[in-house]
Amino acid sequence: MSVVLLLNGPNLGILGQREPEIYGTETLDDIANAVAEEMSVRGWEVVSIQHDGEGELVGAIHKHRDTTVGAIVNPGALMIAGWSLRDALASYSPPWVEVHLSNVWAREQFRHDSVIALLASGVVVGLGAFGYRLAAKALLHLSAETP
Ligand code: DQA
Repeated sequence: MSVVLLLNGPNLGILGQREPEIYGTETLDDIANAVAEEMSVRGWEVVSIQHDGEGELVGAIHKHRDTTVGAIVNPGALMIAGWSLRDALASYSPPWVEVHLSNVWAREQFRHDSVIALLASGVVVGLGAFGYRLAAKALLHLSAETP
């Protein structure tokens, strides 16, 4: 059974209530269900993990490093300076996609840099919860390309 890691960082556990005008009204459970639906096309499963702390996110990557075939990662504000998260992802060899619900490029300057983007297979930005579905489709596509 192939398993995909859905990893969400700080403040993403309160999606639905958090600034819905920016992040939408869908909850993290809604998003996890949507990703699971996409993955079920190939019989893949999803393990959904959210932490507010960087250390816990690093631990989750280590724990699932050898047992997952890919990952979808929304680092939240850790995109800006989450160097430990970045290093953990550097040690994660399956393909993974960075997702941001909001269009970070259209927001404050401090959101314009991501320390993890350089390592990602791709980045989906500004398409709300639908971006996670696109990331799921991208992982399926990338794995179909892998011999
Ligand atoms: C976010 C964008 C980040 O700048 C912000 O800190 C978040 C959410 C997004 O999904 O749009 O927490 O990653």
